Amino acid sequence: MSQSFDVAVIGAGPGGYIAAIRAAQLGFKTVCIDAGKNKAGDAPALGGTCLNVGCIPSKALLQSSEHFHAAQHDFAEHGISFSGSLKFDAAKMIERKDAIVNKLTGGIKFLFQKNKIESIFGRASFAGKQGDEWLLNVDNGAQIAAKHVVIATGSAPRGLPNLVKISNVNVLDNEGALNLTAVPKKLGVIGAGVIGLEMGSVWQRLGADVHILEAAPAFLPAADQQIAKEAFKYFTKEQGLAIDLGVKLNQITEYKDGVSVAYEVAGKQHTAQFDKLIIAIGRVPVTQGLGAENVGLAIDERGFIAVDDECRTNLPNVWAIGDVVRGPMLAHKASEEGVAVAERIAGQKPQVDLGNVPFVVYTDPEIAWVGKTEEQLKAAGIAYKKGTSGFGANGRALGLGKAKGTIKVLADAQTDRILGVHMIGAMTSELIAEAVAALEFKASSEDIARIIHAHPTLSEVLHEAALAVDKRALHG
Ligand code: FAD
Ligand code: NAI
Repeated sequence: MSQSFDVAVIGAGPGGYIAAIRAAQLGFKTVCIDAGKNKAGDAPALGGTCLNVGCIPSKALLQSSEHFHAAQHDFAEHGISFSGSLKFDAAKMIERKDAIVNKLTGGIKFLFQKNKIESIFGRASFAGKQGDEWLLNVDNGAQIAAKHVVIATGSAPRGLPNLVKISNVNVLDNEGALNLTAVPKKLGVIGAGVIGLEMGSVWQRLGADVHILEAAPAFLPAADQQIAKEAFKYFTKEQGLAIDLGVKLNQITEYKDGVSVAYEVAGKQHTAQFDKLIIAIGRVPVTQGLGAENVGLAIDERGFIAVDDECRTNLPNVWAIGDVVRGPMLAHKASEEGVAVAERIAGQKPQVDLGNVPFVVYTDPEIAWVGKTEEQLKAAGIAYKKGTSGFGANGRALGLGKAKGTIKVLADAQTDRILGVHMIGAMTSELIAEAVAALEFKASSEDIARIIHAHPTLSEVLHEAALAVDKRALHG
């Protein structure tokens, strides 16, 4: 005998749990089915990749490693010193990270109870349709019937099956990389994308010798290349990360105490030995086990669930959001799609503009951007003007000891409408919010130039960059 709901959400990551909460707020009888488990693998854990093995734990480790690095290298200029040697306890750092994860995943359980969302632990698959209701089987034996289904099954790490198996002993994916309890002496990373740079930074700050092997010939090709070049210089020349671009992997061998990687760059053969190797070469959508074939759910040629601009699949009242569909694989994108789908089910007309999704890389300095890069504007033949300003003379940045980086504002040459904002510097993960608001509200560089920015703040660099668009920077 199946239980009947208005909305069934499959997956409780940042896409699914937010969709479920918004659907419940709108008065729908809602169930959320999720198969996620905690780190020990012995209890359900809501929150998906983001809370358990993604955004949140990685940022906790970034913070711990930044403190350790600052204590070693930056405190002295503040007149702070300590006698004896500075100690670092990796297990304690992981314990703190786990406590943050548990607090947040437990928080979703509370939110589900508060919003009267039925939470089911298990793996759901489509069984068919009865009348206007979709039927779902859950592997714990439950049967669900629902008028609307929101698929939010997320993504999993892409592997290198032809070269090596992810053992999470010496060859690690994101889960393994987040749970090392000792600092590896030599750490290899395949992929200089977001995970490679963030996790590479964590372990490099803690003392590992980090070598990143990247297939693409350009560094951070999706970012504005002026910012990417500046980042590359900081990471390699100042911080000592070794980053090889244009790498072709030939062989990876895991043995008891480490990993060996044979690769070539520009036709030259190399072999590197590492204690641990992180594979971070992107993620793939999770659709297996969903019973897509039972109901004729369309999957596109890249393995994503095919959806239109409003997250509708080819099946009536079946929606899909987040990492399992096209667009950037980011938590905030998944959540906004979740809100929008719940509201569409309620007959509302929300909009999610994927062109205004902010991107952040939580390195030091942080990299953040929204909108078009200079390369994209050139390729599209759009005439633009630009203003840049640096953090070097910003009072707040100097006080923080983080006076590095640049902000660049790109605006339409005729209308002055802001088309893109690109940042590298301290706390640009926070500063980017103003730029997102500017793009969302179709603001001009003149608008940002006229807004009063508090002094002394890092946001004054964005103000100056906006002034610089029309060559009237006051401090430049
Ligand atoms: P997921 O979070 O992947 O959740 C999917 C859920 O569905 C999981 O709980 C899974 O168990 C469940 N599931 C799958 N199939 C079924 C089924 N058949 N039945 C029931 N349940 C099922 N993004 C950011 O925006 N900022 C960051 O700083 C950031 N950092 C990251 C760091 C790392 C190391 C990683 C790996 C990712 C990071 N991301 C970050 C990306 C972010 O985690 C994802 O974009 C986000 O989690 C996608 O949300 P989702 O809801 O689509 O899917
Ligand atoms: P990614 O797509 O950011 O980077 C993967 C990198 O691996 C690319 O540069 C690619 O060229 C390279 N690569 C692919 N195949 C390769 C090969 N065979 N050899 C060498 N290099 C190869 O993917 P990543 O870092 O795995 O992260 C997955 C996703 O998770 C990201 O795309 C992002 O959406 C999300 N994420 C977001 C974060 C944030 O918002 N701060 C942090 C971490 C992850």
